[in-house]
Amino acid sequence: MTVNPEASRRIENAKNTVPHHVAIIMDGNGRWAESRGLDVSEGHHAGFENLRRVVADLAERGVAYLTLYAFSTENWDRPESEVNGILALAIAVIAHEAEQLNENGVRIKHLGRVDRLSAELREELERAVENTASNTGLTLGIAFDYGGRAEIANAARQMIEDGVPIDEINESKFVEYLYTADMPDVDLLIRTGGDFRISNFLLWQTAYSEFYTSETLWPDFYGEHIDMAFESFNERKRRFGKRI
Ligand code: IPE
Ligand code: IPE
Ligand code: MG
Repeated sequence: MTVNPEASRRIENAKNTVPHHVAIIMDGNGRWAESRGLDVSEGHHAGFENLRRVVADLAERGVAYLTLYAFSTENWDRPESEVNGILALAIAVIAHEAEQLNENGVRIKHLGRVDRLSAELREELERAVENTASNTGLTLGIAFDYGGRAEIANAARQMIEDGVPIDEINESKFVEYLYTADMPDVDLLIRTGGDFRISNFLLWQTAYSEFYTSETLWPDFYGEHIDMAFESFNERKRRFGKRI
């Protein structure tokens, strides 16, 4: 029998632990704006504002890895004005926040396709990733133009391009080729906005994640909402398929 020491350790420590890797589907910006009679762009603005709070909240609670779903491979199909607004916001937020995050020891990673991003957004992201690469604090994965299926298909293609021999293709080799290559599996997956679906996020990395959904819309989800998610996480019994 093979024992996965990491999984065993997490089962033993299942009570009152801080999840090591938290991933968040930041949903509900549109409804947040609509409920206030505002344009959807205001909702995205409020959503990006909340990012700063949540990164600080999670770093403070000792989370080591945080992955945020900011823009999916399917979100390009939204109205052009909405997409352009999100892209412009993303550029502004990275340009504005990256330095502070760097000072706080945050290591930024981009997860997703780069070929469809504007040169400006790509450069901002690349600069943020490079400047923070040697930081040892919270690792912040920004999933932008991210799709779980695209990630898996891309990994397969890259392995073939690299000429990986067929008998070396296994789960651990696949992991090396995912956007999340040096990140652990997700412990706690949070979705705000009340829906119970994965929407093409981290399909591989959430195989044994605990799932928490909150009715709260993303711009309002911080502080005590995070505490509630962590309390729920601590009530779960993670078995990883074993009889325990
Ligand atoms: C999530 O909020 C943000 C992105 C997908 C970029 P939505 O814009 O999907 O908000 P709702 O679901 O319409 O309320
Ligand atoms: C998921 O939200 C994507 C992000 C939060 C970036 P969506 O609003 O796009 O998901 P669906 O359409 O409700 O499944
Ligand atoms: Mg949505």
